[in-house]
Amino acid sequence: MAIQKVGVVGCGLMGSGIAQVSAQAGFPTVVREVSKELLDKGLGSVFKFLQGGVEKGKVSQFDLDKVKENLKGTTELKDLADCDLVVEAITENLGVKKETFGTLDSVCKPETIFASNTSSLSITELSTFVKRPQRMIGLHFFNPVPLMKLVEVVRTVRTDPAAVEAANAWCKAIGKTAVNCGDSTGFVVNRLLVPYMLDAVRVYEQGLASRDDIDNAMKLGCGYPMGPLLLGDYVGLDTTYYITQIMFDEFKEPRFAAPPLLKRMVLAGLHGRKTGKGFYDWSTNPPS
Ligand code: 3HC
Repeated sequence: MAIQKVGVVGCGLMGSGIAQVSAQAGFPTVVREVSKELLDKGLGSVFKFLQGGVEKGKVSQFDLDKVKENLKGTTELKDLADCDLVVEAITENLGVKKETFGTLDSVCKPETIFASNTSSLSITELSTFVKRPQRMIGLHFFNPVPLMKLVEVVRTVRTDPAAVEAANAWCKAIGKTAVNCGDSTGFVVNRLLVPYMLDAVRVYEQGLASRDDIDNAMKLGCGYPMGPLLLGDYVGLDTTYYITQIMFDEFKEPRFAAPPLLKRMVLAGLHGRKTGKGFYDWSTNPPS
């Protein structure tokens, strides 16, 4: 089950990063978006990041050229037919994922391993959308994909251990560290991270400390690269809220329940960095 050619479905924030690290590691990689416009935008962000890396001395011109050579874009799922691994990184909508995996199942060769980058949906449920559930896994990357070293490799009760092994080997080949876990909502990282982020919002909501003091407390007191409120803005408060809803629905535990402030900020369109405003004002006074 060695992985040689890789397909990525979705060229947004996560998909473009996954396609980039795959191509940069030397794997011929095809990334598919629904329209030429979105594809060009996603590929544009890949080359902007790499060019920035070259300027900072972090990426070699050789690596940049390697990505240019290995990374191809398409708007057709059938162009992923001969891939050994297809990683889906599209919108967190079960219906859209069902349709996408159904099409992939009919166009891809029988050996292709299917993976989803979902952060909260059930890999087991996704595996019911294909006729090869033994080849369905989760491959959960972290934002920003090129810089974050971890991938959660998720197996279901039906996953063939050889598919997990192949995925672990591919993660290593692209320079990531894989952690293996079973299919439980939030896997390992979000199971631990989400209650922490929600508690930070509760502390802020209750007026215990200011935004900056909460973030500095965790950054300087615990050595985290960014504080929890800034991280919420960075990941997207809408995304965080969406994940909490799925986790609360699964576990029915108060620690996964979204604080009223988070819900209201999302309703008001304060989604963080992506909308220019969340806990921080990213448009006029971006956090340093
Ligand atoms: N190309 C190559 N390397 C680059 C680069 C580029 N274009 N831009 C930056 N780098 C390198 C830098 O040189 C630096 O390398 P060094 O550590 O060897 O010096 C490193 O990447 C970090 O870059 P910066 O110095 O510019 O930025 P920061 O030090 O501020 O780090 C960060 C940025 C990596 C985002 C850091 O703040 C961080 O780790 N934050 C936490 C992010 C996090 O927790 N993400 C997970 C979110 S949860 C999630 O995704 C799950 C989902 O389900 C919700």
